[in-house]
Amino acid sequence: LRDISIIPDEAIKIYNQPEIRELFANDNERQSLIEQIPAMPRIDIGLVELQWLQVLSEGWATPLYGFMRERQYLQSLHFGQLLDLKKKVVFAGEHDDGCRDEWVMDSPVNQSIPIVLPITDLQKTGIMKDAQEVASSIALFYNDSPVAVLSEGEVFPHRKEERVARQFGFTDPRHPTIGLILASGEWCLGGDIKVLERVKYNDGLDEFRKTPTELRKAIEDKGADAAFVFQLRNPIHNGHALLMQDTRQKLLANHRNPVLLLHPLGGWTKDDDVPLGVRIRQHAAVIDAKVLDPEWTILSIFPSPMLYAGPTEVQWHARARIAAGVQTYIVGRDPAGIQHPDTKDFLYEPTHGAKVLSMAPSLNKLSILPFRVAAYDKKAHKMIFFDESRKEDFDFISGTRMRTLARTGQLPPDGFMVPAAWQILADYYKSLNST
Ligand code: ADX
Repeated sequence: LRDISIIPDEAIKIYNQPEIRELFANDNERQSLIEQIPAMPRIDIGLVELQWLQVLSEGWATPLYGFMRERQYLQSLHFGQLLDLKKKVVFAGEHDDGCRDEWVMDSPVNQSIPIVLPITDLQKTGIMKDAQEVASSIALFYNDSPVAVLSEGEVFPHRKEERVARQFGFTDPRHPTIGLILASGEWCLGGDIKVLERVKYNDGLDEFRKTPTELRKAIEDKGADAAFVFQLRNPIHNGHALLMQDTRQKLLANHRNPVLLLHPLGGWTKDDDVPLGVRIRQHAAVIDAKVLDPEWTILSIFPSPMLYAGPTEVQWHARARIAAGVQTYIVGRDPAGIQHPDTKDFLYEPTHGAKVLSMAPSLNKLSILPFRVAAYDKKAHKMIFFDESRKEDFDFISGTRMRTLARTGQLPPDGFMVPAAWQILADYYKSLNST
């Protein structure tokens, strides 16, 4: 059909998607696991680990079978890629580890950040059959309820300082994620995962939490012949909107209906970021105002926790979205960035995220659209791409400035943000004043 042009090339591209590896137990497995769980050793996980479990189970980290074993952890930390899914490192002299053929991957996959389950020494003691061997199945509990079973487990040292030095290029515990990692357990538990039920939060936002499989369907339902994604963790101003509108225009040169996946990160974020519920309402106001047209926009939540690891993390943000069936990823200034705790300057050079992403290994399924920084043009009264030659005309409205304006009941300059969306932010910041 393709050869005789009945199915256009772009349709093949969009529907001939890579496989998604979901890690949900089927009905039979669930029943039998629930019966066996009381006899299994148990690990209680926290909210961030639950969020990673959700990421794994829905297939965002395809082809992983669960939390990384040491071999995948080392591949990720040292090569930024998954090379295979074998269970054990085979050194000369050791006999073959008997890995299944399917665990050998066709080609490397970009995986710049480790997805691990840290456990304490005490938790490790509780899951060991003997000095060497981990119990064959371990129940993972959240809030006193079983959520998953981990099998064929492997425990390995969580060399936390070494890990953060490689993953963040920084080790200061005042960096909020580094602080969390340094405070976590001294071991990692890797292994295959079966999740009993889809992870839900009952916070009124579950309807926005779509799995990659559901998003592929949603994109198809919009009649898309291409899909592009925008990762964000901040409220949308007109500079962000410009990146998305511009991408659609660029894609329209070769596509009939490119659809935007507006994909705010929904997992753990640092304390002074705007909470997810407020962001979703703010984003919805931008869509209502048709600055992002609801005809070609899908708003959904990306379940990953935030890391603030700059160019290393932006690769994860891009790579995970391949599962959702998008072909184009937008990246702008200082993605996944954070301030240096002393200097308050950018911790990562703000153009490096886009540069690194554009040449990242094993990401060839995705086309990367890098953008220059957008700023407020005081003469034109709108957000446009920054022009160095008349820099005095531009205003970089920082997050701190936005907070101050909102808290003191002032408005941002005209053309900076959809007014109804600003109002939602202003109400949120004012509510902080009164607490
Ligand atoms: S991030 O942590 O999700 O990367 P944020 O929500 O601030 O942070 O940014 C979302 C995306 O918009 C990222 O690709 C980022 O590089 C881009 N971006 C943010 N602000 C600007 C800006 N003023 N100009 C260009 N790109 C920007």
